[in-house]
Amino acid sequence: MTASGFLEEIGDVGRDAKRGGYSRHAFDSPEQDLRAWFGERALGLGLDVDTDHNGNIWAWWGPPGPDAVVTGSHLDSVPGGGAFDGPLGVVSALAAVERLRDKGSRPGKPLAVVVFAEEEGGRFGVPCLGSRLLTGTIDADRARGLRDADGVTFAEAAGNSGFNPALIGPDPERLGLIGKFLELHVEQGRGLIDLGAPVAVGSTVIAHGRWRFSFEGQGNHAGATLIDDRADPMLPAAATVTAVRRLARAVPDARATVGRLVPTPGGTNVIASTVDLWLDARVPGTVTPALVEDIKQAAEAAAKEEGCRVTVTRESYSDDVVFDDALRRDLADRLGTPPELPTGAGHDAAILAGFVPAGMLYVRNPTGISHSPEEFAEPGDVEAGATALTDVLGHLAR
Ligand code: GLV
Ligand code: MN
Ligand code: MN
Repeated sequence: MTASGFLEEIGDVGRDAKRGGYSRHAFDSPEQDLRAWFGERALGLGLDVDTDHNGNIWAWWGPPGPDAVVTGSHLDSVPGGGAFDGPLGVVSALAAVERLRDKGSRPGKPLAVVVFAEEEGGRFGVPCLGSRLLTGTIDADRARGLRDADGVTFAEAAGNSGFNPALIGPDPERLGLIGKFLELHVEQGRGLIDLGAPVAVGSTVIAHGRWRFSFEGQGNHAGATLIDDRADPMLPAAATVTAVRRLARAVPDARATVGRLVPTPGGTNVIASTVDLWLDARVPGTVTPALVEDIKQAAEAAAKEEGCRVTVTRESYSDDVVFDDALRRDLADRLGTPPELPTGAGHDAAILAGFVPAGMLYVRNPTGISHSPEEFAEPGDVEAGATALTDVLGHLAR
């Protein structure tokens, strides 16, 4: 089947009628359906499927062993996300295996397709949770205790899905099998439109992290409380949102976003008692923490002015990543020197890059839009991506 054909098969899973696009979150019902679908398709291709202790699914061509060539991506989405971010890398990997098999190729090295769990952090807040756990980049106890919006912990959700929460954590044995890791992904900005090419090789991922700002004030009556008597946490929260834009603008190439803000209790005629907001900040190099510190100071000043308090918690952070030089050269030679592309998006490949040679291929997105239903890739470009992946996997696993 073509990559587009595989994508079509899952086109109805996890559609979000309210937000538009797809909402597929770690261990929820659509994501479980996608996991089952992936297992069936991989088995149908003659692959051996197993799920590791951290909820990542592995489909092996040949017995698992050292120096394996591993490719894949994720099946979870942001709330109301597009059809391609994650699934494109998975379906292209399945299509590539099928093509290699149909050509009669027999890889000289073990080859595996992997589906990483909770890449977006859409349910438990920490992105790339599956690959962070695999590599020991997040403390296992902290991961077990991460809570979703309903208060369910990662350990409980994993337990309900048939995993043993006690076994969640680093997996050096499995990590040690990976000789090279390659992730194909839809491009998430305008990079490839402007370069006029269907496929690019990834060069770098910029430093990025997430911080939670919790503002505390006095919950009260919207009509009975005089303006001067209020400690309304919505005020410093709003001031922080505008400070994020102002301060980020002053730092070259910085991106900083507040995409989520939750007042509690959240009533029209209620002055909130607390407001939580989440900052996503990304700047190339080492200055992201300094930018966040400036934002924190602005938040503290605004909180004080309103008689509120703010606490700031870092939920995740990853430094700049440069993908493996030798692998990049190999990919470029093999694919006829396609463009190289840096990205501001985070990926499991960037987590793995700290441990094994890792690289990425991007497929053009003519909308330049991602994390939105408008994210897109033309069928011809999906095909070009799958062809490039087939060629490269055949070469790397020869
Ligand atoms: C993942 O897509 C991220 O960069 O947030
Ligand atoms: Mn994403
Ligand atoms: Mn992704």
